[in-house]
Amino acid sequence: MTTPLDIITWATVYAHEHREQYLSELLDLLRIPSVSTMPEHTADVLRAANWIAAQMKGIGLQNVQVTLTEGHPVVYGEWLEDPTLPTILVYGHYDVQPPDPVDEWQSPPFEPEIRDGQIFARGASDDKGQMFAHLKAVESYLKTSGRLLVNVKFIIEGEEEVGSVNLESFCREHQEMLAADIALVSDTHMFGLDKPSIVYALRGLTYMEVEVRGPSSDLHSGSYGGAVHNPAQVLCEIIARLHDAQGRITIPGFYDDVQPLSEEEREQLAQLPFDEAEFRRETGVRRTWGEAGYSVIEQISARPTLDVNGLLSGFTGEGAKTVLPAWARAKVSMRLVPGQRAHDIAEKFRRYVESLAPDTVDVTVTELAGGEPAYVDPHIPEMRAAERAYEAGFGARPVFMREGGSIPVVGLFQDILGLRTILMGFGLPDDRLHAPNEKLDLESFYRGIETSIHFMGAYKTFAQPSHSSRS
Ligand code: BES
Ligand code: MN
Ligand code: MN
Repeated sequence: MTTPLDIITWATVYAHEHREQYLSELLDLLRIPSVSTMPEHTADVLRAANWIAAQMKGIGLQNVQVTLTEGHPVVYGEWLEDPTLPTILVYGHYDVQPPDPVDEWQSPPFEPEIRDGQIFARGASDDKGQMFAHLKAVESYLKTSGRLLVNVKFIIEGEEEVGSVNLESFCREHQEMLAADIALVSDTHMFGLDKPSIVYALRGLTYMEVEVRGPSSDLHSGSYGGAVHNPAQVLCEIIARLHDAQGRITIPGFYDDVQPLSEEEREQLAQLPFDEAEFRRETGVRRTWGEAGYSVIEQISARPTLDVNGLLSGFTGEGAKTVLPAWARAKVSMRLVPGQRAHDIAEKFRRYVESLAPDTVDVTVTELAGGEPAYVDPHIPEMRAAERAYEAGFGARPVFMREGGSIPVVGLFQDILGLRTILMGFGLPDDRLHAPNEKLDLESFYRGIETSIHFMGAYKTFAQPSHSSRS
């Protein structure tokens, strides 16, 4: 008689024997420059969507669809053969960040190269490689037993890196299709290959633009300077008032809804294998800076922040040009923690910045993007299946951590579909997401496939001993 354990074992052996094929397919996907934010890559983004749809069909998923949105397409596929089984909704994104600065890449960003056991390419870790591991896990099951031990649905989107702008309406319009027992996302990192990590909280994001307009055109700073309020100066003064001397954010009401950290959680965070000296080396900063009263790991994952992402005004070329600029612009983002809401924070930011604006200039505040923070109770039984899966795939018990980055879909799944998400990442801290020379460790990819096989295999037993499907 065939047991679930046999089915898992065959899939694992098959995945091991087909490593080369799986890798070479991933390299094909990495060759497609699916940069979602650059209009000149729209056709490439569509090509990547179609490539994934073809993969899904090839491995035996059904009802495969490429849905066009107002932005980039969403790819969906499913295996729902056994209505008595629970359903896992796997999410990933096939879009990537722009590769710039291209000169700093050791090999071209869209010509993947393997050096020292690492796959170098834009999107290798974020998120093509991590997402692909789940497709290959399913393939390994279907090619050996012709079946899975859970039902699965895949939703792979092409707009994560631009804030998943059209995914909210997609989820609202396809609630039935996306119904599941749990969501599974691999788009985060672990402490190390022998220190896998389950993320139970993500920060949200509110991204704003502030524009200050003064004179109707750039002016000679000698003829006019002294009697015209300089927009660059005004902007800098506004920005300088967004933090106090303790590194706290001064926007009224900003911290109102922040859920405080319990002593117990602070102790747990302090136990994580986080190395502050390594953090300084990695970033190249002389010393760390942040909100007083919190450790670095708390500052980068469990506390809200405000950062200036970019400033633009006046003359920025080589040498000196005397000019009083007509305008100045800043991109400001805030990372939010559970309890805070992205739009509410945007409104608080707007009101405060407007209150700081002198009547010598016009100040416009625009909300550009956002995503809600997320928290998933680490005690739910589904987490035990993830722990077991990591133990089988990486040979070590995972630690639980918060991630400072944002994945907007996790909040959407919670709010729209009532779905909790298991964040089972396979990346490493030095994968250089969004930066030159992004890479994915080959070992992460292979062990990720095995971990996914084990999660899908263990899910029913560990998570829901007597649950029937809602799909
Ligand atoms: N995969 C990242 C999220 C992430 C960042 C995980 C750092 C682990 C470490 C995701 O693709 C991402 O970049 N998210 C954006 C979201 C934004 C565009 C709404 C982010 O965090 O800036
Ligand atoms: Mn990502
Ligand atoms: Mn990203």
